[in-house]
Amino acid sequence: MKVLVCGGAGYIGSHTCVRLLEHGHDVVIFDSLVNSSMHVVEHINELSGARARFVHGDIRDEAALKAVLASGVDAVVHFAGLKVVGESLEQPLYYFDNNIVGTISLLRAMQSVGVKRLVFSSSANVYGNPDGVPIAEDAALRVTNPYGRTKLVMEQLIGELCKADPGFSAILLRYFNPAGAHPSGQIGEDAHGAPSNLVPYVAQVAAGLRDHLQIFGNDYPTRDGTGVRDYIHVMDLADAHMKALDAMDRVGCIAMNLGTGRGYSVLEVVAAFERASGHTVPYEFVERRAGDVAEAWADPSLAQQVLGWRAQHGLRRMCEDAWRWQAAHPHGYERMIAVA
Ligand code: NAD
Ligand code: WQD
Repeated sequence: MKVLVCGGAGYIGSHTCVRLLEHGHDVVIFDSLVNSSMHVVEHINELSGARARFVHGDIRDEAALKAVLASGVDAVVHFAGLKVVGESLEQPLYYFDNNIVGTISLLRAMQSVGVKRLVFSSSANVYGNPDGVPIAEDAALRVTNPYGRTKLVMEQLIGELCKADPGFSAILLRYFNPAGAHPSGQIGEDAHGAPSNLVPYVAQVAAGLRDHLQIFGNDYPTRDGTGVRDYIHVMDLADAHMKALDAMDRVGCIAMNLGTGRGYSVLEVVAAFERASGHTVPYEFVERRAGDVAEAWADPSLAQQVLGWRAQHGLRRMCEDAWRWQAAHPHGYERMIAVA
């Protein structure tokens, strides 16, 4: 299959591209590099032993997308988007424009060229504060921030398009908390500035790049008072995208959770990372972060049923792989190239 990977230079996209190439797919990466580096493409090619084509572009540029799609693309995997909840609260229009306008532009380009298969990166953020755990796909969708709203609106847009054009199939993948890196340590999450997510932050503390971790709240009604989440290995996510492409033609339009079905507290993540890295992770408890929920983990059974997918890696492996990447590239891709 020839696959257009929008946002393929990013964290989850780059790992998925490696898997797609390893499985013999023809890959075109389309990325504005707003949150990534071109250097990742060299690593994707080296790890997979194949060559992805890279196109530098913004998904809001419909003409550029049409030109790429018309080169014989069979399916699109759409990772391109902004993803930081806090930033979206400060700049909602930037998020609406990049994510929603960008997705409309992509859907229009796909429709005009006649490419009708889409795998879309959604997020557990669409569930907001859930009524209970585990969270299944039929749980209430109640977003609490502009980023989550963009995901919900994009899911709805794609759903409406599928209804209007029964030839269109889409799999909407709601990721829980992606973590870890490729086992080689050559690609991983290249956080620009201070990471907003727990695992990359803990990795930087373990590496001595930051003094300590602030743990947002120790008074949640959880087993140790800290927030509980479903961390999912990025290579497991990559495999799910492969399986989604395989399942595409028989499913129509469907949303599904990608998680392990198991929750870990912040303190459990810190302890697992200390074991994996051999370094201490100093921390202090601070106030709860606005908008955080006490606990969220997935019911991943639909993905198993429909895609034949289930997570293979646990928290230990996520921490080991995240540490290998962190230790080898303390300052991400750009600095590594500058030093080399
Ligand atoms: P990322 O920022 O590493 O990757 C996103 C990529 O999209 C980047 O390479 C960026 O340059 C590119 N991009 C952004 N806007 C673009 C545009 N207008 N045109 C072209 N390229 C553009 O993020 P990620 O962690 O790999 O996330 C991938 C997708 O998964 C995102 O849509 C994100 O919302 C979603 N998601 C991520 C998480 C997470 O915690 N990482 C969880 C759930 C869902
Ligand atoms: C995990 C736990 C924090 C950082 C977000 C998005 C979600 C998805 C994944 C995109 C929580 C605690 C964190 C820190 C801490 N992204 N924490 N100190 O908030 O579950 O989900 O990323 O779609 O939509 O909302 O992930 O990694 O930020 O936090 O104590 O410095 O770690 O309070 O309990 P979250 P996270």
